Amino acid sequence: ARVVKLAVIPGDGIGPEVIAEAEKVLDAATAGSDVVFDKTRFSLGAARYLETGDTLTDEDLDAIKAHDAILLGAVGGVPGDPRLRDANIERGLLLRLRFELDHYVNLRPSKLYRGQPGPLADPGEVDFVVVREGTEGPYVGNGGSIRRGTPHEVANETSVNTAYGVERVVRYAFELAQRRRGRLTLVHKTNVLVNAGSLWQRVVHEVGIGYPEVAVDYLHVDAATIFLVTNPGRFDVIVTDNLFGDILTDLAGAVTGGIGLAASGNINPDGAFPSMFEPVHGSAPDIAGTQKADPTAAIGSIALLLDHLGLREEADRVTRAIEEDIDERHGSSHPAPARSTTEIGDAIAVRLQA
Ligand code: NAD
Ligand code: IPM
Ligand code: MN
Repeated sequence: ARVVKLAVIPGDGIGPEVIAEAEKVLDAATAGSDVVFDKTRFSLGAARYLETGDTLTDEDLDAIKAHDAILLGAVGGVPGDPRLRDANIERGLLLRLRFELDHYVNLRPSKLYRGQPGPLADPGEVDFVVVREGTEGPYVGNGGSIRRGTPHEVANETSVNTAYGVERVVRYAFELAQRRRGRLTLVHKTNVLVNAGSLWQRVVHEVGIGYPEVAVDYLHVDAATIFLVTNPGRFDVIVTDNLFGDILTDLAGAVTGGIGLAASGNINPDGAFPSMFEPVHGSAPDIAGTQKADPTAAIGSIALLLDHLGLREEADRVTRAIEEDIDERHGSSHPAPARSTTEIGDAIAVRLQA
């Protein structure tokens, strides 16, 4: 049997709730096949920090690196919790993993599933992927502040964009667009962020020469938010920087039926480090412990994980089970009966047992 070493980081809030359902579906999808997932659980996040003061130790990182892939729920406490101010779980844990494991492609597919109601009256077909750069931009923490707390405080965050970093993610996006519908949209803010914008635009132009069959267009990020709402069907692959990609993908989640459906992969395409799969959403402290969290995003991340590992058939079966569940969720009766986190996970897992 092929053994896949999977690091599981349930995290905080609804993280452990949705990861339990994702694992249930992973088990169902691989039962009886010749692939075995050998799982190691890592207790990381705000809860661990409050207990021990640790965010992500070097030992944790080394242990995680020794795995083939990572499944993560969500980390972070209640936004603004003063006890977590110095911890900075998001930077010290989540971003540290993305940076150290060189997850330069943050892959965020957005699809309006059949039968799925959304906020748009007439959305049409919506099926696009945001290729969000994952290791650079304003996220690198290259900045600082002086005269803190005085009326003359100066606070700077620098957006780091390297030719190397932009080129590799743009190339990935072209490859993906070529396998899909052959359309690539660069989203940036070149009218204001002229230095980074010029680099992104030149790289897209230069890499694009090698992909003559991919049609390229460009949108400023503010205009892109308009089209995501008025005409989301115009998009196939969007390539953009780390911060724009973060914002666009929450919007894309909302447009396609809710953040509880949005899956993602933090990919190291070279395979030098394990890739990490996680829902786009956070730890949702407002609904933690209530069984109201939709585990579909975490389960969709299992499909991305399986696909990344080359287990295409298993990945497709999970995707189909999600599609069928969503269709039935809304098709059978309106309004759909509200189901708990566990009920949704069970319903999707059961479809895989047939
Ligand atoms: P959030 O995504 O946790 O929540 C935003 C809203 O969406 C909330 O109303 C929440 O109830 C709802 N929601 C989220 N996931 C849902 C699901 N599966 N089903 C139903 N509803 C869902 O964003 P936030 O409130 O800005 O952040 C909360 C914490 O999570 C913060 O500490 C933040 O830093 C962290 N965070 C972590 C990750 C991650 O680990 N990848 C991602 C985003 C935010
Ligand atoms: C996400 C989250 C993270 C991000 C935060 C928690 C650091 O919002 O995965 O979208 O901004 O990338
Ligand atoms: Mn986000």
